[in-house]
Amino acid sequence: MEQRGALGRGKVILLGEHAVVYGTPALAAGIERGVRAHAGPSEETTLHVQPWDVTLRPGGKEDLARALTAVLDAHPSELPPLSIHADVALPAGAGLGCSAALGVAVIRAIDQAVGHPSTDAEVAERGLAWERVFHGNPSGVDNTMAAHGGVAVYRRAAPLEPLQVRTPLTLVIGNSGHASSTKEMVAEVARQRSRDEARFEKTLESITILVRNARLALEDGDLIALGQLMDLNQNLLAGLMLSTTALEEMCGAAREAGATGAKLTGAGGGGCMIALTEPDRADAVRAAIEETGHDAFVAEVGG
Ligand code: MEV
Repeated sequence: MEQRGALGRGKVILLGEHAVVYGTPALAAGIERGVRAHAGPSEETTLHVQPWDVTLRPGGKEDLARALTAVLDAHPSELPPLSIHADVALPAGAGLGCSAALGVAVIRAIDQAVGHPSTDAEVAERGLAWERVFHGNPSGVDNTMAAHGGVAVYRRAAPLEPLQVRTPLTLVIGNSGHASSTKEMVAEVARQRSRDEARFEKTLESITILVRNARLALEDGDLIALGQLMDLNQNLLAGLMLSTTALEEMCGAAREAGATGAKLTGAGGGGCMIALTEPDRADAVRAAIEETGHDAFVAEVGG
């Protein structure tokens, strides 16, 4: 990944995905792996994305072109034509917030090119216009964490609550290799809700309690409790039919190798899982996930 340029971070949801769409809090963290972008003057506005090797123009019909149009339209000042280049170092459709990271990197690159200073909150807000093109009804957690980083409690339409983490968390992130669509997974959860609203409300309540306790565990530096709460969240997500055989295999392997907890992260239905571990177990946990036939990498969050 090119290390220069404006950064949009990838993200993991430690607990609370999907429920966050319905207004409950989620515990999320930015990761350093993300997207870098830079922009400069040009004769026409284009966005070139590597390693996908695609070039888009505002006004195009593709989702990416529509997202670009949305952020150009949302910019507070009139923009000259810009050539924007982005380097993506995240898997797409894998639950790590790739589209939001790309949107935030592009927004920051535009701001840098025209000398327009923006706060993280302003960047995150414009990132939501980008995310709406892809996800229909996003909670806003991905674009917010892509802009802010750190570890935080995110709640829809509420100010972000950054958390002070005593020691950085070591996560192993395993990728099932199956891309999934956040829009479809969110729609699937909505279908389940309409089938049995009372049961769904109970699930939301349970996830809310898990997130609340996870926040306390995190603030206390209690990795055992935090890991157990992640496992419980995984059970509830599996109950919403969001887990897959590959995700379960990776979570099981991680726990057997000493992870204190493991769960899918993001939309599920494929994509990535995260395992929380003591730093000295990280290599063993990564190796155990890789033995199930999937890629894994170690990420520190909250440092
Ligand atoms: C996707 O990273 C997280 C979901 O909760 C969707 C959203 O919050 O918009 C599944």
